[in-house]
Amino acid sequence: MAAEADLVVVANRLPVDLEQLPDGSTRWKRSPGGLVTALEPTLRSREGAWVGWPGVPDTDVEPLVEDGLTLHPVRLSADEIADYYEGFSNATLWPLYHDVVATPAFHRHWWRAYTRVNQRFAEETAKVAAQGGVVWIQDYQLQLVPGMLRELRPDLRIGFFLHIPFPPVELFRQLPWRTRVMEGLLGADVIGFHTEGGVRNFQWLASELAGASDGREPDTLRVGSRTVRLGAFPISIDSSKLDALARADTTVKRAAELRAELGNPRRIILGVDRLDYTKGIDVRLRAFHELLSEERITIDDAVMIQLATPSRERVEHYRHMRDQIELSVGRINGEYARVGHPAVHYLHQSLPREELAAFYLAADVMLVTPLRDGMNLVAKEYVACRFDESGALVLSEFTGAAIELTSALLVNPHDTDGVKEALFAALTMNDEERGKRMRSLRAQVMSHDVDRWARSFLEALGVPVPSE
Ligand code: ADP
Ligand code: G6P
Repeated sequence: MAAEADLVVVANRLPVDLEQLPDGSTRWKRSPGGLVTALEPTLRSREGAWVGWPGVPDTDVEPLVEDGLTLHPVRLSADEIADYYEGFSNATLWPLYHDVVATPAFHRHWWRAYTRVNQRFAEETAKVAAQGGVVWIQDYQLQLVPGMLRELRPDLRIGFFLHIPFPPVELFRQLPWRTRVMEGLLGADVIGFHTEGGVRNFQWLASELAGASDGREPDTLRVGSRTVRLGAFPISIDSSKLDALARADTTVKRAAELRAELGNPRRIILGVDRLDYTKGIDVRLRAFHELLSEERITIDDAVMIQLATPSRERVEHYRHMRDQIELSVGRINGEYARVGHPAVHYLHQSLPREELAAFYLAADVMLVTPLRDGMNLVAKEYVACRFDESGALVLSEFTGAAIELTSALLVNPHDTDGVKEALFAALTMNDEERGKRMRSLRAQVMSHDVDRWARSFLEALGVPVPSE
């Protein structure tokens, strides 16, 4: 296969995961999470290449072309998955960058694995990218790749985008390998964050830890003889595609069926997340539970649905949180359900996009309550599906999305009373106010889609972007 691509995306995961079935055969399925949701349509429309891990240990997979997109699998051993992916990426960096909502663990052998695997990604990418090509590296798992790749291929234009929050300076400074990480990132020509806050934190640390100085233009840094551009690029979704999916007759019919299957409650409350402790699923269960116990609502007024994609199931914090959530769901149902009528419907499953759109359309209230989230695409997906200009969004202030979606009911997820009152307000809001808020949310989401995000990043990187 030709090893020449003008645009290469590098991410820990490929957009599809190899699934091993019990009979020993394999099949590809969509990978979880917002990174893939956002980047897949972007890259397909640009016929690029994607370098990433196929989702299973110790497996060599040949490069393959899927729907115009060339996939280059990177092999990871079971030990590397434990130390680089579950360890350093998801038990050190993930909690550290999400405001230490869980305690990060610092282990030197995890760091060594992270370095080794980042070097492998850089080497694989160096083989794939065309002379003078553009490489766009994604997320916290690969922060050393920009610097390593620049060493191997100084001819490339290199971009890096962080899909999670860049932490406050005091937290980043806890990292024993903070200077190495900073130097790795500064190997890029453009470094993108979701928010201006991330840009400011990074700028301060780059001068403090890596001796970078302010460049001539705003939001640029001088690093040796090079200029590095920083910017806030809030990511989004393929808004019009989702809007069209929600309007499809099959989706509208399925949404009505879902309501009927739930026993036609007056209101349906929905949560949709990867099962992650940053998402504040416990917060919303607590608010719903209290409204029931205070007899302000009954299960004829409102039922809750929580869809939770299984995620990082071998990492301790995730196991613990799953137990806690399932305990709470059991408790609420034990106290308030009737036979055939649960108060909380909990699905620990990943659903097809069509089915997910029907859930969004069926839901009167969407509860998005992360303690910290880089962006949160679920909030934007809900808005894109509400072509009827109805439905209320309750949204945590600590998501990147809250900066743009200011007409949502914004809540502090640490304030249980605040979340409870916002949920009650959303359940009882009059049609006029709901419509007004949703129209304003839709104006934002429909005009700021993922293509606009990708264009603005690539333009900052100096890539000529054809007009639509
Ligand atoms: P994160 O990237 O942290 O997972 P986001 O909200 O940005 O959070 O993105 C989550 C993505 O995963 C969204 O595209 C959402 O539709 C999808 N998703 C979450 N839960 C489910 C589920 N149970 N079934 C199918 N897709 C899901
Ligand atoms: C978030 C991260 C992504 C990650 C995704 C799914 O969106 O920003 O980098 O791919 O979650 O997590 P996983 O660990 O399953 O890849």
